[in-house]
Amino acid sequence: MPPIRWSDDYSIENRRLDDHHKLFFELFKSLHAGISDVNSTEDINGILVKLGDYAAAHFTYEEIYMLDISYNRLKEHRAQHDIFKAKIKEFDRLKGNISREMKLQLVDFLQKWMQGHIVEEDKRLAEWKEKLQRTPNS
Ligand SMILES: [Fe+2]
Ligand SMILES: [Fe+2]
Repeated sequence: MPPIRWSDDYSIENRRLDDHHKLFFELFKSLHAGISDVNSTEDINGILVKLGDYAAAHFTYEEIYMLDISYNRLKEHRAQHDIFKAKIKEFDRLKGNISREMKLQLVDFLQKWMQGHIVEEDKRLAEWKEKLQRTPNS
């Protein structure tokens, strides 16, 4: 799977969250470059650790935002975040000691997850926010 490229189709109409998501896309780009080129000097394990740390911080930020806007699907959304975190934990447990093939599979999984999650789950936050703005007294 080639690296995903940012486009406005991924925007959830929240500048801070969009900026976070853009950074994920950049990290996936570096991971792909590092894994597919055997001569690459990219530190794949280091980038994966960074991705995990960044994801944890982003998910926390997003969950606080959901609380702030009294989002009705917080529990389901958080459960989704936990899937990504569990996958990263699996990698952490192996201390990066996995084959190139396994790294490729891991990056594919994480990237697919992120892409689907932004489009299906994170975008609902924009819809919810819009609904709230339309009915300010509810
Ligand atoms: Fe999310
Ligand atoms: Fe997100």
